[in-house]
Amino acid sequence: MTEKKELRVFSGVQPTGNIHIGNYLGALKQFVQLQEDGKCIYCIVDMHAITVPKDPLVLRENILDVAALYLAIGIDPKKATIFVQSDVPGHAELSWMLTCSSYTGELSRMTQFKDKSRGNESAPTGLFVYPILMAADILLYDADVVPVGKDQKQHIELTRDLAIRVNNRFGDDTFVVPDGRYLKEGARIMSLDEPSSKMSKSAENELSRISLLDEDSKIKKAIMRATTDSDGEIRYDIENKPGVSNLLNIYSAFSGKSVADLEKQYEGCGYGTLKKDLVSVTIDALAPIKKKFEEVRHSSELEAILAAGAEQANEIAEVTVKRVKGKFGLGS
Ligand code: TYM
Repeated sequence: MTEKKELRVFSGVQPTGNIHIGNYLGALKQFVQLQEDGKCIYCIVDMHAITVPKDPLVLRENILDVAALYLAIGIDPKKATIFVQSDVPGHAELSWMLTCSSYTGELSRMTQFKDKSRGNESAPTGLFVYPILMAADILLYDADVVPVGKDQKQHIELTRDLAIRVNNRFGDDTFVVPDGRYLKEGARIMSLDEPSSKMSKSAENELSRISLLDEDSKIKKAIMRATTDSDGEIRYDIENKPGVSNLLNIYSAFSGKSVADLEKQYEGCGYGTLKKDLVSVTIDALAPIKKKFEEVRHSSELEAILAAGAEQANEIAEVTVKRVKGKFGLGS
């Protein structure tokens, strides 16, 4: 009997500050669930963060913030590998091999690039090739599963296309073709002030998002001021009631209650009641994360965990890079 291969999970978060409940409910929550199911590798993707200019001192702090948040939400470094992308040279090496296997046409079709560059000729090249670096992140670890929010779906599809293309050329033992994993309720958390666009780290209005470390008073203000509609009925209807649907999604993702049950629970109630309860649910869910973050953020444990994680990640990455270089005929 052949032994069943252990499930390999890989994902990453950019260290850009303002990690919000969209990141948590779409991706980070899955990171914690999956650590019981296989070998999980969670990266702080600092090389992605410099696709737009960053203050080096701020970037350093943001890297450690994300590392501390990983621990604070419940990732256990004894079960999962936590590391910083630029500590593992294999990401950049594999990224180049994949760049040479990609088409400019497919990169031009990436909606995130189109949104961010808006046809501007001085858009940074890093923004254009960023999905290839993301593909390299995933393929470097032979990941089977990639837990992410829906906004990354196109990048995951590109990763699969690149893996299949290279496999067709050099054999199916070159890359594992990964699958994205998306949660039902948290996959796409929308902005609180403008529920037609996704909640984002960079939106100007602070009240458009709830960051994981926000004070209770800010959480309350953001939810109580969230955009709804004038018909007054608490019903899930993304098209016609995007604001209320978003609040129901957030509520469901934090509480574990289904949206259908919430609709029943709030039948005949006003939006104010729903919002008030959501404030409590959110504050209660984030309180233990904030507490643990304060405990670990400035501990000596944090840098030791990242150093050990980089060593573990490098061990896997070196094997993949050697294998793929061999396929391409690279090296002495
Ligand atoms: P990033 O740093 O923008 O976001 C981190 C994770 O949060 C998810 N997310 C959301 N989920 C639901 N609703 C939202 N409003 C929302 N906003 C963000 C993202 O889908 C993501 O899962 N390119 C990636 C980072 C990356 C990566 C990787 C991910 C680099 N290499 C390899 C997986 C595998 C990004 O910019 O995520």
